[in-house]
Amino acid sequence: MNQLLQWCWYLVVYAALAWLIFQAWKILGIGRNPESTAGIPPGNRGLPLIGETLQFMASIKSSRGFYEFVRVRRLRYGNYFKTSLFGETHVFVSSTESAKVILNNDLGRFSKRYIRSIAEIVGDQSLLCASPQQHKLIRNRLSHLFSTTSISIFIKQFDQLIINALRSWDHKGTVVVLDEAMKITFRAMCKMLMSLEREDEFLERLQKDVGLICEAMLAFPLRLPWTRFHKGLQARERFMGTLEKMIRERRRGLEACPEDFLQHLLMEADHISCGDESQSLSDEQIKDNILTMIIAGQDTTASAITWMVKYLDENQEVLEILKAEQFSLAEKSSPNSFLSLEDLNDMSYSSKVVKESLRMASIVPWFPRLVLQDCEIHGYKIKKGWNINIDARSIHLDPTVYNDPDKFIPSRFDDESKPYSFLGFGQGGRTCLGMNLARAMMLVFLHRLVTTYKWKVIDSDSSIEKWALFARLKSGCPIHVARIRDDVVPS
Ligand code: HEM
Repeated sequence: MNQLLQWCWYLVVYAALAWLIFQAWKILGIGRNPESTAGIPPGNRGLPLIGETLQFMASIKSSRGFYEFVRVRRLRYGNYFKTSLFGETHVFVSSTESAKVILNNDLGRFSKRYIRSIAEIVGDQSLLCASPQQHKLIRNRLSHLFSTTSISIFIKQFDQLIINALRSWDHKGTVVVLDEAMKITFRAMCKMLMSLEREDEFLERLQKDVGLICEAMLAFPLRLPWTRFHKGLQARERFMGTLEKMIRERRRGLEACPEDFLQHLLMEADHISCGDESQSLSDEQIKDNILTMIIAGQDTTASAITWMVKYLDENQEVLEILKAEQFSLAEKSSPNSFLSLEDLNDMSYSSKVVKESLRMASIVPWFPRLVLQDCEIHGYKIKKGWNINIDARSIHLDPTVYNDPDKFIPSRFDDESKPYSFLGFGQGGRTCLGMNLARAMMLVFLHRLVTTYKWKVIDSDSSIEKWALFARLKSGCPIHVARIRDDVVPS
């Protein structure tokens, strides 16, 4: 018996040794046909199986943010490099030419793909993760919710929210822009999507759950009870439970049905399913996509607003030009009316401030795609099954694309930009669905902030929050505020 155990032990040791030698062989490329690596993007695949996952996770947990992982390798290898994360090969590309090929996707060689933790958290029926065929149907159904009429209604609602929020700043004296913006954008999303506008613990709990869901999106997909991922999945379940209850009550006529995105989707689904079921969204699709729109719209817009306030504070000459435009608009319009889409269309310099903030902050730093067939991009061989990521942040900060890329110069957008050089909202078939909404929120916020308060940033630290899905300031950008105009009460 003892001998048998000894033999088993030798077998295990030999198998482990053989595996280690095989992996070292693979990493060093011994005996490989030199042809097979020619043209493959440079880079380090790291350790067997886990690749460079540990380094990636270390970036997520560092104060420089998860983009640091990419930045360091981009500097080392150039515009194209490969790495291995969570057992898969990832290539990062950062030229406008490659962005054009991949985002246009004329030959259907790429599809959108997120890391597993993201797909599990937002749901497989989410617009972010659905198959290309399902994506077409869902995007089609969702995109007409973002009509000019909806945006005009939304601008008024958002203006009202901002005016109310700014009123409460009087007593505070100091506010943390990110916290305030997260609250306001969450409320705006909930109102627009589901007509939820209660000022109570319920909405706070829901916002907390969405926060946990967002944190879990970058977490290691381990379902153990104490993990960030598990907490995110639980929060998702609670969120879905609330949404299911709401849908049931609306269908049973227990709630007066308001005009919102959820109601449009439910009515459309009930109406279309009487005819062609393949054209309607299922309840699963509706629920996953309501959650997706909250996640896609709240955190991104709040982070963008926060960076914009910081950049304006650091560039007082830009702030002065912006103020002149906003005060001239305030003088022209009645103090008793909410802002309209036409008002926003008149904010030409402010729109460039928004665009420049999005360029500098690159809220979504890279866009992931799955390679569906072997192909070649600008001389590099890219294999089927690899992930290819368009590194928008590098493009935004490339001195061959933008002069003085580290400077905040809104007037750089007086002239038309080079194609595929501005990727704040992506481009091509997966362009941000809520970009007009996001721009509108940023402009309304700017108008009310600069015409109501004088403000000063009191902590200029640029460290990035750990575990954040989008680059968010760790300090949240605290500002000191002093009122300069009487309260406005539009009706
Ligand atoms: C400043 C705020 C925002 C920024 C910077 C932003 C940025 C982006 C970017 C870069 C993409 C494309 C990613 C890719 O190609 O892989 C995207 C997609 C998307 N965004 Fe936004 N977004 C913002 C606000 C919003 C808002 C307010 C909503 C909705 C209410 C929204 C909904 C979406 C959706 C649904 C997609 C997925 C589109 C698809 O895959 O077809 N976003 N966003």
